Amino acid sequence: MESASIYRELADWYPLLDPVTDHTEDAELFRRLLQPNESTGQPTLLELASGAGNNAHYLQRDFRCTLTDISKEMLELSSRQNPDCEHLVGDMRTLKLDRQFDAILAHDGLVYLTSQDDLYLTFRTIWHHLRPGGRTLLAPDYYADSFSEVSELHRANDGERSLRCLEWCYDPDPTDTEYLVDYVYLLREGSDTRVVHDRHVEGLFSLDLWRRGLRETGFEVEVVENSLGPDRYGDLLLCRRP
Ligand SMILES: C[S@@+](CC[C@H](N)C(=O)[O-])C[C@H]1O[C@@H](n2cnc3c(N)ncnc32)[C@H](O)[C@@H]1O
Repeated sequence: MESASIYRELADWYPLLDPVTDHTEDAELFRRLLQPNESTGQPTLLELASGAGNNAHYLQRDFRCTLTDISKEMLELSSRQNPDCEHLVGDMRTLKLDRQFDAILAHDGLVYLTSQDDLYLTFRTIWHHLRPGGRTLLAPDYYADSFSEVSELHRANDGERSLRCLEWCYDPDPTDTEYLVDYVYLLREGSDTRVVHDRHVEGLFSLDLWRRGLRETGFEVEVVENSLGPDRYGDLLLCRRP
């Protein structure tokens, strides 16, 4: 079977897998938690692993957004959706810009941190880019404490094209810090159909390890219950740089 990545060769299909309209509630929660108390003009926001810019699509009303991602194909998609945002290629573990932001968001791209070293490097990236007094919100999909196998079927059409996708998320070795997500896409354009496999290796750490690493980096950490409550998302880590 053909193999390809939804973040690279198949990036043009990403909006069918993860439509922007699915992000309204998430973005509203992130906006509320990241909004600075004091109002001194439009605050700046840096997003790590910003993908298609689906969160930023809503957040840009309240924040001046700088969006960063390791994939230039995803940034191109985001630039088309959010032409007024700044877009920069960058790995969240090593990014180093020469400025600081009022707020930093790292959402579901955090799952691509697969070792403790990756986590700590990313915490240092956030520290480097957050102004003293600024807030950062980390929203990983899963914690090791509450992970369980899940599979789901995605269906979408955009007029010309149709996608069906089986997503299967499982952990073959619970003793390591990784789990797997296999996607099998059926991609149809007119009467042409392709079947493509896309395997993602993702990271799994306890909530306690996230919290400890953030505190060791210097942040004040608050665990916020995810009020949206969909069963696949865990608590949020809201941090402040003193
Ligand atoms: C699920 S998408 C993010 C979608 C995003 N929340 C949105 O609102 O559109 C995950 C993103 O993480 C990015 N990514 C994976 N590893 C990364 C890394 N080390 N540094 C930066 N981005 C990374 C991928 O390229 C992908 O665009």
